[in-house]
Amino acid sequence: MSNTGTLDGKVAVVTGGSRGIGAAVAARYAAAGACVVIGYHRSADAAHELADQLTVAGASCIALRADVADPQQTARLINQAADTFGRLDILASCAGINHFGGLAELTPADFDHVFAVNTRGQLLAAQHAARRMGDGGRIILTSSNAARRTIFEHTLYAASKSAVEAMVRCLSVELGRRGITINAVAPGATATDMAAANAAKYQPPGMNLSATDWLALSYALGRIATPAEVAGAYVFLAGADAAYITGRTLPVEGCVF
Ligand SMILES: NC(=O)c1ccc[n+]([C@@H]2O[C@H](COP(=O)([O-])OP(=O)(O)OC[C@H]3O[C@@H](n4cnc5c(N)ncnc54)[C@H](OP(=O)(O)O)[C@@H]3O)[C@@H](O)[C@H]2O)c1
Repeated sequence: MSNTGTLDGKVAVVTGGSRGIGAAVAARYAAAGACVVIGYHRSADAAHELADQLTVAGASCIALRADVADPQQTARLINQAADTFGRLDILASCAGINHFGGLAELTPADFDHVFAVNTRGQLLAAQHAARRMGDGGRIILTSSNAARRTIFEHTLYAASKSAVEAMVRCLSVELGRRGITINAVAPGATATDMAAANAAKYQPPGMNLSATDWLALSYALGRIATPAEVAGAYVFLAGADAAYITGRTLPVEGCVF
């Protein structure tokens, strides 16, 4: 791993760092010189393996377990990270879950779970991170292009991510007074476990293409993103070149139709 040095001396927490987009963000932050805390929930082996790999490659990196649906665990993750490395500069909140379901079947429990992870989990991670950050802090949440698209039976997920875009707009004002920026990244379909499990469901009703054909048709670039391509946006928003960007959502989606 050659250190680009753009995040030298910074300490970053990456929730959802055990797999997919979050794992790619953790690797990019480590390669940019940051000390990285990989937050994970169920994938302990993957999280610790990644932490070991990044450490062997020269980074300072640890993995900590926290269910972001649990407010106390989220607080503990952020505080343990800041206490371990003596400061906190960057939060990349990548933990998230997908959901599909028609109106007739949706339950209050579905709503609570999706919002507890995708919305409240990100809000509380931002709240605790902001408490430990000083001037120059960077908070990057994760939305989805689903927040702005019309996708069959994707109501709960889309709503949970639309709320994230509203949160970064509003929070930018109070955090901006302290020199902290807050933005969101809105990925389009990205080659992770989440996309593999759900890709075909994004088709309009009655269209029955294979997931691969459907995704190739849907995106201007004729393919979906790699996690590393999406991770670049989290590196940009954490770095010096994004110092005057706040309250915004950056789409990384290869232009979906
Ligand atoms: N892939 C896409 O096409 C796509 C498109 C738009 C937006 N996104 C968003 O991008 C983010 C990353 O997605 P991905 O595709 O990388 O997903 P993924 O491959 O399914 O990975 C999800 C990550 O979130 C973590 N996570 C899930 N529930 C959690 C919880 N309750 N507490 C803590 N961590 C939890 C998982 O941790 P464990 O494995 O350790 O449990 C894992 O690290 C999500 O916010 C997702 O909504 C993805």
